[in-house]
Amino acid sequence: MESNARIYVAGHRGLAGSALIRRLAREGYRDVVARTHAELELTDQTAVKKFFEQEKPAYVFVAAAKVGGILANSEHPAEFIQANLAIQTNLIHEAWRNGVKRLLFLGSSCIYPRDCPQPIKEEYLLTGPLELTNRAYAIAKIAGVEMCRSYNRQYGTRYLAAMPTNLYGPGDNYDLAAAHVLPALLRKMHEAKVRGLDRVTIWGTGSPKREFLHSDDMADACIMMMKLPDETFDQVLRGPNDFPLINIGCGKDQTIADLARTVASVVGFRGTLEFDTSKPDGTPRKLLDVGRLGRLGWSPRVGLEAGIVAAYKDFLAHETGISKAGRDNEITEAKR
Ligand SMILES: NC(=O)c1ccc[n+]([C@@H]2O[C@H](COP(=O)([O-])OP(=O)(O)OC[C@H]3O[C@@H](n4cnc5c(N)ncnc54)[C@H](OP(=O)(O)O)[C@@H]3O)[C@@H](O)[C@H]2O)c1
Repeated sequence: MESNARIYVAGHRGLAGSALIRRLAREGYRDVVARTHAELELTDQTAVKKFFEQEKPAYVFVAAAKVGGILANSEHPAEFIQANLAIQTNLIHEAWRNGVKRLLFLGSSCIYPRDCPQPIKEEYLLTGPLELTNRAYAIAKIAGVEMCRSYNRQYGTRYLAAMPTNLYGPGDNYDLAAAHVLPALLRKMHEAKVRGLDRVTIWGTGSPKREFLHSDDMADACIMMMKLPDETFDQVLRGPNDFPLINIGCGKDQTIADLARTVASVVGFRGTLEFDTSKPDGTPRKLLDVGRLGRLGWSPRVGLEAGIVAAYKDFLAHETGISKAGRDNEITEAKR
């Protein structure tokens, strides 16, 4: 990815997209194209076609998606499958029509079978039934992986599907109706502390194990891969079972209960943690095998506790409205 290349980050105001924007700016990329959801509706095929024809990006990061936690996924499966299929189909197809050199499609670890062996290797894709609570989202993302594979096979494109583990970081979604577990815990513990409550209720048994990666580490891994020389990039594209698929994670996990204790300690909440076992747990364990990524010489830099300390600062800034303004400045900086 040449330093003067035109790069389009779809979903640049989201958790993953904003981390990519920050990293591209730090690395000196100046020709970064971005559109807000209000400026470009990615489910609109005609609008996406026009955008690619006008802007002609050479590299594309697909970080736009309809994303949500377990509650949003189980209540709105139709919206999750429809929006995600449309967004990725429009972006991948127009990337091909407009001769994009490389595309990186972000999915998530929920594409893998619910009960597959741990840690999860890329080759376990399509080897068993999926977790029911987010199956609609997962099937859309699997279709995206298959699109990358099919376009590479038929048209000789270089489209890579990267599957990060659970992400957290600046600009996370702290709305309890849609938030993932870590930002949801930050909000709940913070509010309990501020209101002087003596207990916080956490969904599920607390026993599922999850892996977390700071969004800056994810961006670092994605941009490192997009910059690989053709020969090495092509080896990454030739993943297991012919899927252009690579996991992004830190290789370590902990129980939700342990995570909740760490968040409580960072936030300074000293009350009781109660587990509501009537609520679903989701997949019992989701630890990614990051051997493929490790063999490229990559490892994460942000430790979980330090990352949560930083995320709590971001949450506090978000509460006061500072965070979003900060992110918009970074985007303006990257676009300059
Ligand atoms: N968060 C995680 O833990 C995690 C973990 C692994 C993988 N990922 C993957 O990373 C990708 C991005 O996730 P994220 O957490 O960064 O999500 P996010 O914070 O919700 O950001 C998604 C972005 O996409 C935009 N978007 C959504 N629908 C759109 C549409 N129809 N047209 C135009 N823009 C649209 C959103 O804009 P609006 O907000 O304005 O709608 C937002 O800027 C997803 O593919 C996800 O699977 C995320």
